[in-house]
Amino acid sequence: MTDATIDERRFRDRFDEFNEIGATDAGGVNRPSLSDENKRARDLLVEWFRDAGLEVRIDEMGNIFGRREGRDPEADAVLFGSHVDSQYNGGRYDGVVGVLSALEVVEAFDDAGIETDRPLEIVAWSNEEGVRFQPDMLGSGVYTGVFDLEYAYDREDKDGNRFGDELERIGYKGEEPCEPDDLHCYFEVHVEQGPFLERADLSVGVVEGVFGFSWMNVAFEGQANHAGPTPMNMRHDAFVATADVTKAVREITATEGTDLVGTVGSVDVWPNAINVIPERVEFTLDFRSYDNAVVDAALERIQDEIEWAAEREGLEYEFEEIMRVDADPFDDECIETVAQAAEDAGCEYTRLVSGAGHDANYLNKITPTSMIFAPSVDGISHRESEYTEWEDVVTGAEVLLRAVNEQAST
Ligand code: GLV
Ligand code: MN
Ligand code: MN
Ligand code: MN
Repeated sequence: MTDATIDERRFRDRFDEFNEIGATDAGGVNRPSLSDENKRARDLLVEWFRDAGLEVRIDEMGNIFGRREGRDPEADAVLFGSHVDSQYNGGRYDGVVGVLSALEVVEAFDDAGIETDRPLEIVAWSNEEGVRFQPDMLGSGVYTGVFDLEYAYDREDKDGNRFGDELERIGYKGEEPCEPDDLHCYFEVHVEQGPFLERADLSVGVVEGVFGFSWMNVAFEGQANHAGPTPMNMRHDAFVATADVTKAVREITATEGTDLVGTVGSVDVWPNAINVIPERVEFTLDFRSYDNAVVDAALERIQDEIEWAAEREGLEYEFEEIMRVDADPFDDECIETVAQAAEDAGCEYTRLVSGAGHDANYLNKITPTSMIFAPSVDGISHRESEYTEWEDVVTGAEVLLRAVNEQAST
């Protein structure tokens, strides 16, 4: 138990001010990784971290840390946070809720004059979304040793801008090495981004783990030709094969494990003209499940489908798995800490697994981890209309406060 409590007004004011940066007309935000808007969001965050008396550190991946020392300087830190990069025209809650909750928790301890035994460290990870630079979770990925720094720096966006150059351009290539500190555990508050909590009429989700996933790039290469005179049996249409594969994704998800989901999310067509047969299509595939063997099976089946589609249409194809992350259950003690914190905060909760990817999945590789979910209205996310009731956001922060307080005593 703790006397510290979230200052709802301050939290709300900060949330609103933060989301003025890159605000879109339709009520979302456009702050993709390392954009000018992402820089402005980072600047404001650093200012607030400093105002809160935190010692700010920016590492060579642009991950931003704020540290509040504990009574025992030798003790490992409790780390908590999330990310502030957004999807293109994304929602206001994804990531931001976790970072601003973390700041609010630290300030709640300050307000109550509470010194914790362990140091508290809050964090905003770089490039969680993975829309401008793939793969996603790049900042936490380097921090936890999943990727090399140079691999991360060499990622390019669609215009050929390198991650490392863009990081430097916005002034967030920090001096500190991007490597793990001595950590006691990690927590992250996030909006659920799915429908389960709302359907169950519950305000808190205790997260037991995150779906594993596979991301793939596929290209079909056929022949452009005139859409009028070319007989149907003389065509090598790269888009027809793409459509076949898209349909196969549906079939595979319907027959391969109950929780498997699959998406063709990004499609580029050349020459992309009304009266020209598509010569080349590049598209992405995303398969996710909590069962790693199910992702493996989906991957195998979709490769066959790609090969058959290319054969039927007389095309060349390229296939590359660009990212693979395994599902890996969170730490039992951290899960229990969150469940107990939800009970102490007086709210009803359920345990669930996350279909969305989170930095917590990587942190779980190096330190005991769990997450706290707040309900998403209509289960909507990665869209400007993403919304969570403010009282549910505050409840999530209250649960985080209690979980951190519990783990911060030695
Ligand atoms: C990114 O937010 C993801 O979950 O893929
Ligand atoms: Mn997120
Ligand atoms: Mn997201
Ligand atoms: Mn995510």
